[in-house]
Amino acid sequence: MSAEIISVKGRRVWDSRGRPTVESEIHLSDGSIGRAISPAGASTGSAEAVDKRDGGKSFGGLDVMEAVEAVSGEIHDALKGCDPMDQEGIDLELIKLDGTNNRSRLGGNALVATSMALAHAAAASVGLPLWRYLGGGRADYAMPLPEIQIFGGGAHAGRRVDIQDFMVIAIGAPNYRKSLEWIAEVYRSAGKLMGEAGKLAGVADEGGFWPNFNANEEALDFLLCAIEGAGFTPGLEVAISLDIAATDFGKGGKYKLATDNKVIDSDGLSEILLNWLEKYPIVSIEDPLGEDDPEAMTKFTLAAGPKVEVVADDFICTSANKIEYAASISACNTALIKPNQAGTLTEAKAALEAARVAGWDSIVSARSGESEDLTIVHLAVGWGVKQLKVGSFSRSERMAKWNEGLRIAENLENKEFDLHSRDTFPW
Ligand code: PGA
Ligand code: ZN
Repeated sequence: MSAEIISVKGRRVWDSRGRPTVESEIHLSDGSIGRAISPAGASTGSAEAVDKRDGGKSFGGLDVMEAVEAVSGEIHDALKGCDPMDQEGIDLELIKLDGTNNRSRLGGNALVATSMALAHAAAASVGLPLWRYLGGGRADYAMPLPEIQIFGGGAHAGRRVDIQDFMVIAIGAPNYRKSLEWIAEVYRSAGKLMGEAGKLAGVADEGGFWPNFNANEEALDFLLCAIEGAGFTPGLEVAISLDIAATDFGKGGKYKLATDNKVIDSDGLSEILLNWLEKYPIVSIEDPLGEDDPEAMTKFTLAAGPKVEVVADDFICTSANKIEYAASISACNTALIKPNQAGTLTEAKAALEAARVAGWDSIVSARSGESEDLTIVHLAVGWGVKQLKVGSFSRSERMAKWNEGLRIAENLENKEFDLHSRDTFPW
């Protein structure tokens, strides 16, 4: 008889924006403990599992005491005595217990923290690192390609530029360790350039430089200079990845580019982005159009792909059903997987499977509100996901994750080429 769950405890802790969030801690009968913290988004899709926030005066209405009490109360009562190895059964129990479509009764934050804590407890019980436990005995482990923010914009940086994430991927790096080394040089180079140009306005939510650019395209020019300034060949060694997060500045096929001072329609936005794809070494572009603009997504993907990854985030919200729909209309070719959008690990994994069935690649992603929680790094390796996106190359809630990747990479057999399918970039 394997261990059983003896307690589930909720705890209010604080995230990287100084806001309250939920930690769940699970104790097993064999003494094993699993703990996990819920992240929080700022540019959220409308179909995401919603966090339970208390409202009222404390912390701007963002307190999570009701969700914390749900973990220690209802969730504890339901899971006590259960088999911790039954991740799927327990996740289904959590979904049933919540009883809503958007996880609003107990809270997506209560559910995801508990679901992730369960995986940690089960891995500890069988004496495996979480990535190996999640990998379920597979032999072909590889590290995900780090996708790292250099400039932050949109909802994460006071809308100084409309585009949310200007990132780089070291597509020519031979391994995970080198990939971080190269990007560290690009990050330094970008900081120096921005300082010299008087563009440095601050640091965005995910730790990227918060720019003072006059146009969205100026950010791309600076990024190119930063890559070159660090001594790398753009497009060959280090390439650009963008998260447009268009849902944040567009509705009903109308998009307001405040930085460029214009309102454009779906075709207009697509044209600008397709032009960037021609002009700059961009290998990946996320949410190029709004979540309510599926026809334009399909049109864009047809025009852009298969040259680049067209990534869906708000458009699919880590939902297997939405991915099946998106695949049926060829709206994109890559899925962003965020466990807290789904609510449980089982649902996030189902989304990943749906993406695989569609023939897409996937990216496991953090949120703009993060913590020291390292679960997503283990998910990316254990689930064999191509890329990992956790924000910039600064701030400990981000660096803790890149550093955990270094520890995991040391265990992989072929250390010289430990990165996941970097050759699959069609660029
Ligand atoms: P969020 O942003 O965590 O604020 O939603 C991340 C993203 O859009 O990928
Ligand atoms: Zn996004």
